[in-house]
Amino acid sequence: MSQASLAQEASRRRTFAIIAHPDAGKTTLTEHILLAGGAIRAAGAVRARGENRRTRSDWMKIEKERGISVSASVMTFEHDGKRFNLLDTPGHEDFSEDTYRTLTAADCAIMVLDAAKGIEPQTLKLFEVCRLRDIPIITFINKLDREAQDPMALLDEIASRLQLDPAPIWWPAESGNRLRGMVEVATGTFQPYARKAPGAADEPDHPEALPLDQAGAYFEEGEQASLQDALDLVREGYPTFDVNAFLEGHMTPVLWGSALRHFGIEALLQAIGDWAPAPKVMKARKEAPPETRNAPAPEDITIQPGEDQVTGFVFKVQANMDPNHRDRIAMFRMASGSFKRGMKLKVQNTGKSLSVNAPIMFFASDRELAEEAHAGDVMGIPNHGVLRVGDSLSETGLVRFAGLPNFAPEILQRVRVKDPLKAKHLKKALDGLAEEGVTQLFRPEIGADFIVGAVGQLQFEVMADRLGEEYGLDVIFEPSPYAEARWIAPAEGATRADVEDFMGKYRPQMAGDLDSDPVFLAKTSWETGYVTERFPKVRFLKTKERG
Ligand code: G4P
Repeated sequence: MSQASLAQEASRRRTFAIIAHPDAGKTTLTEHILLAGGAIRAAGAVRARGENRRTRSDWMKIEKERGISVSASVMTFEHDGKRFNLLDTPGHEDFSEDTYRTLTAADCAIMVLDAAKGIEPQTLKLFEVCRLRDIPIITFINKLDREAQDPMALLDEIASRLQLDPAPIWWPAESGNRLRGMVEVATGTFQPYARKAPGAADEPDHPEALPLDQAGAYFEEGEQASLQDALDLVREGYPTFDVNAFLEGHMTPVLWGSALRHFGIEALLQAIGDWAPAPKVMKARKEAPPETRNAPAPEDITIQPGEDQVTGFVFKVQANMDPNHRDRIAMFRMASGSFKRGMKLKVQNTGKSLSVNAPIMFFASDRELAEEAHAGDVMGIPNHGVLRVGDSLSETGLVRFAGLPNFAPEILQRVRVKDPLKAKHLKKALDGLAEEGVTQLFRPEIGADFIVGAVGQLQFEVMADRLGEEYGLDVIFEPSPYAEARWIAPAEGATRADVEDFMGKYRPQMAGDLDSDPVFLAKTSWETGYVTERFPKVRFLKTKERG
């Protein structure tokens, strides 16, 4: 493919994620975006995935239907000449690490706020991640069909709490029972809202948009004039949308609607198509081949999406989607090039070569073999444990994208298998699940225990369930004596020997992670503070980047 058409293919892609506090309407919005994009025909198709608020047993059921949860990792659809890749971020806070990694594969995020609640704790956390990663944000204020906060108060909250300039693209005409519609700030075009008739099963079609001054039929006494006044104030009081300020992360376009009533969704999809950036230029490093002696220092490079060479990275691995096969699917985000099925790609850190013969694209209703893919696309690569989260793949095998971080877990538990004869199988099973990157596995240097680390309690429950279902192991998770895990490394100017000195003194609390990197298991956070002070030559790290 010529350079020009490569760049053109890349530029029509929009790879984005939705971030929201649980219950703000992420699942509903996902579904209605797919509807608006023509990817599904009826609402209800994605409904089964609203795991956020579900009970543990509901979640398990969903998880067992692995097909669903996997196709949920990314949903690809074509609309209006563009290809949209919607990445699913698990909303439950126990899965924030997974979410964080997924966001590294997104070029843009849709921040969904509940119009009655505004910014909530999880919104803030996810927003911080986007800011850290320079991911531009489109705001969608949802649930206008319910009583909402004052629109100006919502925008002020965005400005003051996120330090982000809100640029209203639309302005709502009231909310809840009085919701009449919304008006486009730049043009004064009014989009009327059709209320669902009581008892009607189908969603109503919203009437055609028309100029506000011709929309009298949709208002009651005085409402139209006060909307016009509000519009004048909005035009004066808020900045007009500037796409560069948005791409630089200073401004967010604000759209409104009701996901449930399919109101404002076309406008949102249009905004994503028009403004969300095409696949970005990525920073990477060019490394020497693994076998080189006296290798030259790695070189900082940038990867253009229109480059010839296929490059990209794995941001998620899902194991055992088909319980009859020990399969693993690595979710691979392409950063550049033109991929053709059957191509050979190399894993940078191991130098292993992989023929990608059966890559999968996840369309909303089914999966298909990916015959070709371009920068911005996400495909699932089946493999048998060759690919791990954070791996970089490319044709030369020399390109390395900055590692995806592992975070120190917040809960550490000891895991035991009830049948002692199966202890050997346990290690294999735990390794397998830890390779997915959702939980972490620590092997203490002394003793035969395994310590599993996770961000939240739900992960242990899911893990116990999967160990039973997928590996036939009946396990018990027990409290461990540890409260925190820290990766250790020499401080500036210190040496390996300084670290070993520390490790010698704390041998009973030392463990190795999945890569056998040393980890200190502290009994209390006080102890972490104590060793940090006592051993200034050692760094105690909360995150680790692989690769
Ligand atoms: P989440 O993925 O962000 O957690 O939210 P989800 O879409 O599951 O929505 C949470 C609840 O909010 C659901 O109601 C959903 O129907 C409702 N909802 C989403 N968007 C809108 C909207 O625009 N307007 C109104 N009024 N409600 C909305 P639920 O009753 O908790 O669940 P369900 O029984 O409807 O499934």
